[in-house]
Amino acid sequence: MDNDVSLAQSRNMPLSQTVLGIETSCDETAVAVYDSRRGLLAHALHSQAAMHAEYGGVVPELAARDHIGRIQPLLRHALEDAAITMRDISAIAYTAGPGLIGALLVGASFAAGLAAGRQLPVIGIHHLEGHLLAPMLEPDPPYFPFVALLVSGGHTLLVAVDGVGRYRLLGETLDDAAGEAFDKTAKLLGLPYPGGPELARLAENGQSGRFHFRRPMVDRPGLDFSFSGLKTAVATALPDDNDDADRADLACAFEECVVDTLALKCCRALESTGITRLVVAGGVSANRRLRARLVEDTVQRGWRSYFPRPQFCTDNAAMIAYTGWQRLADAVPAVNPIQARARWPLSELKTPGA
Ligand code: KG4
Ligand code: ZN
Repeated sequence: MDNDVSLAQSRNMPLSQTVLGIETSCDETAVAVYDSRRGLLAHALHSQAAMHAEYGGVVPELAARDHIGRIQPLLRHALEDAAITMRDISAIAYTAGPGLIGALLVGASFAAGLAAGRQLPVIGIHHLEGHLLAPMLEPDPPYFPFVALLVSGGHTLLVAVDGVGRYRLLGETLDDAAGEAFDKTAKLLGLPYPGGPELARLAENGQSGRFHFRRPMVDRPGLDFSFSGLKTAVATALPDDNDDADRADLACAFEECVVDTLALKCCRALESTGITRLVVAGGVSANRRLRARLVEDTVQRGWRSYFPRPQFCTDNAAMIAYTGWQRLADAVPAVNPIQARARWPLSELKTPGA
């Protein structure tokens, strides 16, 4: 919180603001309220995972339609939990991208409608910036600068974060994202959608050391990743007449390979930048083995690692409301055109108000 207040003061922002956050970029509908003095007041979320499970992945059109029905009840729920009304809200922040365009448009138009009705400023937030700043919601947030490993279903990035809006891309995946690799490998092992947490659960029963996969791109310099070959390696190693033990052992070896690779590149990024704080965010940062490994590696070297609480690792509106507060200087009047971008490079972001 001290961190937030000093950031606000340094930019002459008004200190008391209550921001409504709306997230609809993929298959979670979420609404949250962040107050600059009192912190996070409420967060409500509905996951569509069960609905998409039948199809083995997210169906964009179904996602968009479901957001429409969920968003208003979630708003009511969040306001009730926060014990406030719309009259107490001073600005509205919504995820403007990247994500599924139909899903994004639901949140964007809902935010625009609410803002127009109450003449409130409205801010389109970059979803990945939301993930990067999610650890700021924790009681002991990191100071700038930090290195962030952002590992989600669609992205795997290493970013040096010098401040809000000051991001230097250090490395990224050349093909599949880490979460995508989890999801695809889970499917291969016959696990239901969403595959990442299911594979992690299966891996807990696996025997370490029976299978071993080559760690991709660790023997060359640089901070980029490549995970697409790994699922092929798992497919090749999977016996035709496989049983529960085979699948659990493969899940374990797969997870060890991803965790090892991510950990090695994180250490390399901290060493090369001279930064001592590591933030890990995005859906895959909920992975227990990854968290344990990164804590161990950073403690050993006298560094520190920071994670959002598990429910804020995956998509949520708390991070959008918080980022909205940080970007109040970018708010536009309620009559702005609705903004939604399926693709939006993080490198296009500027410091707030710039
Ligand atoms: O950040 P997120 O909720 O959505 C995106 O913006 O992509 O991340 C979702 C990704 C999915 O690929 C999911 O399988 C993965 O995060 N994930 C996990 C775990 N929990 C979620 N992967 C490994 N272990 C987990 N415990
Ligand atoms: Zn996400």
